[in-house]
Amino acid sequence: MSKKALITGITGQDGAYLSKLLLEKGYKVYGAFRRTSDLHINRLKFLGVADDIEYVPVELLEFTNIHRTVEKYEPDEIYNLGAQSFVALSFEQPVFTADVTGLGPLRVLEAIKDVNPAIRFYQASSSEMFGKAAETPQNEKTPFYPRSPYAIAKLFAHWMTVNYRESYGLYACSGILFNHESPLRGVEFVTKKITQSVARVKLGLQKSISLGNLDARRDWGYAPEYVEAIWLMLQQKNPRDYVIATGETHSVREFVEKSFAEIGVRIKWSGKGVKEKGVDKATGKTLVSVNPKFFRPAEVDILKGDCSKAKKELRWSPKTSFGELIGIMVKHDLDVISKGL
Ligand code: NAP
Ligand code: GDD
Repeated sequence: MSKKALITGITGQDGAYLSKLLLEKGYKVYGAFRRTSDLHINRLKFLGVADDIEYVPVELLEFTNIHRTVEKYEPDEIYNLGAQSFVALSFEQPVFTADVTGLGPLRVLEAIKDVNPAIRFYQASSSEMFGKAAETPQNEKTPFYPRSPYAIAKLFAHWMTVNYRESYGLYACSGILFNHESPLRGVEFVTKKITQSVARVKLGLQKSISLGNLDARRDWGYAPEYVEAIWLMLQQKNPRDYVIATGETHSVREFVEKSFAEIGVRIKWSGKGVKEKGVDKATGKTLVSVNPKFFRPAEVDILKGDCSKAKKELRWSPKTSFGELIGIMVKHDLDVISKGL
């Protein structure tokens, strides 16, 4: 009999890629979505899996709803990907973020404990939990120092996952995933904002792009590969937590330069701080400027992961390079924008 998986956050980037992966593996997939005026399943449609999923309304703020869903659909595995996932917004909406991103997973864990402790649980934890990191690269033993309401909420959920595993014997795993991107990435995140803008500049639809901290460094991987690691975590003999990362770190500035290089533009930087500009070396036109409105009250300066444990125990390793990732994203954006999609 095929396994049954319940995925919260089905409409998001990872929800889409994970659904596709699980469907290919023969799973019955229940897609938990929060009710809005429109069921936005565009990512699932893009991957050609929208019709193969059974949609279930699940609100992470509502315990009774989660409990009934777990009881009714009897999943073998629950992947909790749902969250208020935008770090910048968490400074504006800290209480909401704490509730959805922090308490949401606890509600799911409680439902599992109550309904069927044999259900396997995955929690989408984050490299943001390392924050002002005590060491580089970061691994499963690196101390946490969260720098945003989002990261603090994720840390709460991380420790709850560990606690329910240790207290009640649940098969519960926390995947500490570093940034992972794709053509399906939300437009508010810096990578997609850059690649989409670069495509629009190339097509004459936009003159320039406004960004915040150009010097922040992230470990950016390719989302379709990261959902494989997520699935692998729930297929082991024993539940454990894993860092998933590429082991490379790059600045936002490098991301900008490489994205423009994809359309044959070389960027020359001048000025400092909020006065800094990126100009087209050939034409002198300003293509990049800095706007302090995109700065965060507290920043995470550098993230770089060490995924040795996942390599050894899950036999997972990243494949797509930083340059290839940017190439995939810019090409996709050029393609869909030029077709008016
Ligand atoms: P995403 O694209 O922003 O998707 C987030 C999902 O959560 C969406 O489906 C969203 O639904 C859903 N959601 C939000 N609030 C909800 C609520 N109250 N009840 C139920 N569902 C709710 O995020 P992602 O990039 O796929 O990331 C998946 C998970 O991994 C998130 O938990 C994120 O924090 C975590 N994570 C991501 C990364 C990364 O680099 N992508 C790295 C580490 C950890 P709507 O479509 O209705 O908004
Ligand atoms: N979003 C955004 N927009 N970020 C900018 C901008 C801008 O205009 N300019 C500079 N940045 C910087 C941010 O200050 C941050 O240092 C970096 O770019 C990355 O920002 P995001 O792409 O918004 O991602 P994030 O690293 O804050 O969070 C993502 O990764 C986490 C894993 O480490 C999200 O996917 C989180 O949900 C995830 O947990």
